Amino acid sequence: MIEIVEKILITCALPYVNNVPHIGNIAGSHLPADIFARLCRLAGYDTVFIGGSDEHGTPAEVTAERLGITPRELSDFYFKIHKDIYDWLDISYDNFSRTSIPLHHETTLDFFEHIQKNGFIVENTVRLPYCENCRRVLPDRYVEGVCPKCEYEHARGDQCERCSTLLNPEELKSPRCAICGEEPVIRDSNHLFLSLDKLEPRLREWIESKKGEWTGQVVNMALGWLNEGLKPRSITRDIKWGVKVPLKGYEDKVFYVWFDAPIGYVSSTKEWALNQGEPELWREYWQGDARIYNFVGKDNIPFHTIFWPGILIARGGYSLPYRVAGLQYLNYEGDKISKSKGFGVFCENLPDAGLSSDIWRYYLTLLIPETNDSEWKWAEFQERVNNELVANLGNFIHRSLHFIQSKFDGVVPEPDLSEDDIELLKSTEEFAAQVQELIFDIRFREALRKVFELSDRGNKYFQSNEPWKLIKTDPKKAGTVLYVCANLCYDLAVLLSPFMPKSSAKIFEILNTKPGTLQDVGRQKVAAGTKINRPEPLFPKLDDKKISELKNRTSQVTKYEEMIMGKISYDEFSRLDIRVAEIVEVEPVKGADKLLKLTIDVGGKTKQIVGGIAQQYSKDELVGKRIVVLDNLEPAVIRGVKSEGMLLAAVDGDEISILTPDRDAKPGSKIM
Ligand code: 2FM
Ligand code: ZN
Repeated sequence: MIEIVEKILITCALPYVNNVPHIGNIAGSHLPADIFARLCRLAGYDTVFIGGSDEHGTPAEVTAERLGITPRELSDFYFKIHKDIYDWLDISYDNFSRTSIPLHHETTLDFFEHIQKNGFIVENTVRLPYCENCRRVLPDRYVEGVCPKCEYEHARGDQCERCSTLLNPEELKSPRCAICGEEPVIRDSNHLFLSLDKLEPRLREWIESKKGEWTGQVVNMALGWLNEGLKPRSITRDIKWGVKVPLKGYEDKVFYVWFDAPIGYVSSTKEWALNQGEPELWREYWQGDARIYNFVGKDNIPFHTIFWPGILIARGGYSLPYRVAGLQYLNYEGDKISKSKGFGVFCENLPDAGLSSDIWRYYLTLLIPETNDSEWKWAEFQERVNNELVANLGNFIHRSLHFIQSKFDGVVPEPDLSEDDIELLKSTEEFAAQVQELIFDIRFREALRKVFELSDRGNKYFQSNEPWKLIKTDPKKAGTVLYVCANLCYDLAVLLSPFMPKSSAKIFEILNTKPGTLQDVGRQKVAAGTKINRPEPLFPKLDDKKISELKNRTSQVTKYEEMIMGKISYDEFSRLDIRVAEIVEVEPVKGADKLLKLTIDVGGKTKQIVGGIAQQYSKDELVGKRIVVLDNLEPAVIRGVKSEGMLLAAVDGDEISILTPDRDAKPGSKIM
């Protein structure tokens, strides 16, 4: 008989890559999606967890233009930073793709062609805001104005941040260019629209079927849009960076970033399948009966309950999401996280902050904004880590394993189990079932609480049995207690693994026992006689000084844009010791017809440098010439000749022009 294992596909909203994630982005999508994926794997489901970066769109184009680089260069730069952060936080993506890759462009075109063939694309002339000052059509979020619904003054042309209503730019009152503030003029432009109006009945039926299964927030938000009546929504934009529209007259347009981004889920799955060596495998997740879970932040809910499923229905042949897990926002110390104000925890600082990623994952799990906005508080972080992680979980595991190490020579003792012991060991199965159920119901905080309930139970068992006394009066009984504790540690390690994978792995390692799955919980997998590895405390206690250090360290705002533009600080510049020198002697370099060895005088100090100017300058021209050199460059050996500085010259291909002082500057004069 062939065992059919249910397939689960998990997606996490693809982040834009023109900024860097903060804790709100982690708690609001990557972390819950990861815990979910890890649990699915642990429970034995055929699981694929995919993500990627959402690289197109106007902001990327405008930012790149401002920084004087291409949007692709901008994406390359930020992609790496994103990827490193998710890796560091152990977000276990099976594939993390990019929407700028050819496979994604092809997939988007496939969607468009089918949607068009199926009759869900209409063309319309639209009157679009155009900024004469910036000389560009201002798509969606580049027009700001007053929201027609809630009167919020900084609503963007695609969506009002306050009431989340999806908007078209022309609906805004008192519009202005978000780049320069000028009032835009209106120009006509042809655009393609997805007929959401025609898709409305199918979408309604689908959303209605999810009532009671999804959180009220998500269903009600979706029903809210549906009840207002869906209108065709434009899927093309007047910019250059994106997936090109394959129609005549559309040469200067690309698809709207929200049209191609969710298709990125499909292309990332295709890329994963290719990497598995089974190029068609993606179909089993998108075109079979796999359950698809989308983890998204609050502002992404309308796109995932209306727009993306609309695209899927219009395309035909694809499954709709089984569940849209729409999360709310994480705030910070009473306010919104703000990069510009340096207010929050910014993830690029975490690797150097000196704590394991598990500690951050732990507190962030408690803050996953499942149904309401949540709030990061440093005082609570400290309190939870010290009183729960260290004093409860860490304490139980360490005292148990340390006892085995010190009193039983590190060997798990042979037990003589009582009825109560057997019952306690078996009771963990129920915990495993509850953890699974809670995670499947997107209740991560309660699920994690279950794990702590179990370690609390372990602590009470240890405490009430007093093995430190038994070891003197009834060593056999003490051995039984520690056998039970070792097995509870194992079960805890299994249940902890979706939340804190590093600590879980560490416990298995100390137990010297193979990591288990959910099915192994309650099965006494740590055999008597196992020689454990030397235990060490799992979690650090955090004092006030450490908390204040962490707070300072993690709120630093990295000046990425300045890094991109290659700007250096004055301090960095002042480390360069650039000086005037006089050429004393010139010799050829053997076997290198482009190089010359120059002996130079840098104000009473003679040294030699090698320069690639042999084809442009003759010996006669050079001897006696005043030049400019970088004097404190680390010495190097070039073609066997020592070089103790660098000659500065203007280089344009083969044209080389040595820099010389404009007036009679003495050798040794400092350039500043
Ligand atoms: O809000 C965002 O960051 C978007 N880039 C999310 C896209 S989700 C998906 F559709 F790709
Ligand atoms: Zn402008």
